[in-house]
Amino acid sequence: MSLTPIHGRLSDESRPKVTTASLRELKLHHETISCLTAYDYATARLVDEAGIDMVLVGDSLAQTMLGYENTLSVTMDEMLHHVKAVRRGVKSALLIADMPYGSYQVDEKDALLNAARFVKEGGAEVVKLEGGERRADLIRRIVDAEIPVAGHIGLTPQSVNVMGGYKVQGKNMSGIEQLMRDAVALDRAGVSCLFLEGMPREVAGMITAEISTPTIGIGAGPECDGQVLVFHDIVNLTFGPPAKFVRRYEDAAALITQAVQAFRADVKSHQYPSDEESYHLPRETKAGLESVLARKRAMGR
Ligand code: KIV
Repeated sequence: MSLTPIHGRLSDESRPKVTTASLRELKLHHETISCLTAYDYATARLVDEAGIDMVLVGDSLAQTMLGYENTLSVTMDEMLHHVKAVRRGVKSALLIADMPYGSYQVDEKDALLNAARFVKEGGAEVVKLEGGERRADLIRRIVDAEIPVAGHIGLTPQSVNVMGGYKVQGKNMSGIEQLMRDAVALDRAGVSCLFLEGMPREVAGMITAEISTPTIGIGAGPECDGQVLVFHDIVNLTFGPPAKFVRRYEDAAALITQAVQAFRADVKSHQYPSDEESYHLPRETKAGLESVLARKRAMGR
């Protein structure tokens, strides 16, 4: 492996640390918050150095990194493995770890212990969990344990089987009222930020205006206090048609395929490695080696 450091630091090295308090400041000053997922050291470093405010180690890594069909299979240990790698790459952004399905729904004590593992072992600054008003008591307990919590309401992928698919939420009056109750309950429970996924922009706008917690939208329109996307979506590494709200900024799949094909062709045609890409013996050692080989040849060996 090359030990060359990653080049191209795009951000100011002295960028102030983003904290849960600074998120509220950003909302107060109407400055939009940026958030991307990252799941490994290299992308975490690039995302952080590009100046993104929050890095989310989302349980979407179940699909993007591990090839599972949905987020339900990913475990605490798998999540922690990725959180630790991302921690090593992130300096300034706020680091949020997603609590996987089953790590907080069953038992409150387990939920607290799992949240604490993300902080203690993984170095996360905030844990995120899905669900509305019925999670409010649990969120209060986790916050009481000095662990900041991010809420997540709307289209919550861990409820895929209950929702009967990935469906936009809050499209009728009762759905809108439920989302408003969820948002207000989590605001009162003390969440540091609230992810709004898969809902009409009008509903996300109403929630954002109603609560003092910063809202971070994904498929929730432009009125949110911030926006999050999945890293693999914005660089086309997801092997499928993107959702309506995804904007693709680059085509990493094409770039990687070209690089891999070019390497393969060079290896097959002996174009790689060149003499410049090879290590050489020092001149004296080479001369010594050549005379040993010449002697051996002369002796017929
Ligand atoms: O897991 C994830 O990536 C998420 C975002 C989509 C908000 O929860």
